[in-house]
Amino acid sequence: MNYFKTTLTICVCLLTLASCDKKPQEDYKWLKNSIDVSVSQLELTAKEIADSAKMPRSIWVGYDIDFLCKQMETDITAFKDSLRPNPSSEKIGTRRLARIYDWTSGFYPGSLWYAYHLTGNDIMKKEATKFTNLLYPIREYKDTHDIGFMMNCSYGNAERFAPSDSILPILVQTADNLIGRFDPKIGCIRSWDFGTWNFPVIIDNMMNLDLLFYVSNLTGDKKYKDVAIAHAKKTMENHFRPDYSSYHVVSYNSDGTVERKQTHQGKNDESSWSRGQAWAVYGYVSCYRETKDTAFLDQAVNIAELIMKRVKTADLIPFWDYDAPDTKDTPRDASAASITASAFVELSTMATDGGKYLDYAEKILQNLSTDTYLASVGSNQGFILKHSTGSLPNGSEIDVPLNYADYYFLEGLDRYMALKKIEYKDL
Ligand code: GLY
Repeated sequence: MNYFKTTLTICVCLLTLASCDKKPQEDYKWLKNSIDVSVSQLELTAKEIADSAKMPRSIWVGYDIDFLCKQMETDITAFKDSLRPNPSSEKIGTRRLARIYDWTSGFYPGSLWYAYHLTGNDIMKKEATKFTNLLYPIREYKDTHDIGFMMNCSYGNAERFAPSDSILPILVQTADNLIGRFDPKIGCIRSWDFGTWNFPVIIDNMMNLDLLFYVSNLTGDKKYKDVAIAHAKKTMENHFRPDYSSYHVVSYNSDGTVERKQTHQGKNDESSWSRGQAWAVYGYVSCYRETKDTAFLDQAVNIAELIMKRVKTADLIPFWDYDAPDTKDTPRDASAASITASAFVELSTMATDGGKYLDYAEKILQNLSTDTYLASVGSNQGFILKHSTGSLPNGSEIDVPLNYADYYFLEGLDRYMALKKIEYKDL
């Protein structure tokens, strides 16, 4: 009898130890809270916009031209035609919705997919499917490089997290349209079809390469990957200064020589627009993942070092431009921080001395999870994060939530948890 009792006690102890072993050792309350807030905010938004056929993008705000001049450290003449009109007073404070042709239309469905992947919550999956399907017409859209963002974040994540036979043709058609914008003589994908540039390529375009890599992997057809690699190499040649900060726009002549180098959303042509640096490091991390070409890894590491050196804020959520004045009123860009964090988590698995990038990403994710940046449930028009900046020189979306800040925050949390082997159910 005693023998059985002892054996039973040992078994119970071992089982208890085994289940304790699954619990994360560190205090991850911040992580659980961020995920729970995100799910609540996404669900609330889904209910509120259920019948709109549009996507939540940000909150309407106005601007004050004197403030903008101070931020740009210039006078009003510098704005020329860039300023958008201030929204009407009735609009201010309301949710800004975007039509499906907007460059940000994939981020809300993508956030729902990440929330589903993080938690297994079926409401997230149902809403993700619904909002992803709204983007079906975009498979035929050819007028911007942003189709990569739009379709990879929505349908791409659908395929990754809830695969279905109907998705591949949609991704392939989009990828064909994206490589249709590639000019072999120039060696790049054309970003925009507006403006006075001959052939504008923006650093943001690095983000559209992930769709091409993914479609090459899914189909076994390397033509998409080849275009992505050519684009990344040409961008490496012309978009970067010797300190690895990036120009925003490089326009090419038709023979592939550079027409001009400028900014569109940064402080000035020679400044380092914060989100641009984030797009850049993220893009080259992807390129290294998909090619194992160490030139791409070196590029990613050098941009990462630049970001860590240039940040002026103690909480690592950068000002909207790394050259913006260091004042208490300077708007931050939580979107640049979340993109950087997501990229740095992955970079930490590739680089020698990767731990420092993981530490940096963890600090960003923790700081975005504080009340300063993380919305309280029911506030912030249903967005997850506060304090991003869309385009200050255009007077647009200054110190607001942005759907892509939310998306890359969730992606960053997802990557962080995968790396740390943390599961939501164990939090
Ligand atoms: N791709 C546009 C932006 O980053 O604002």
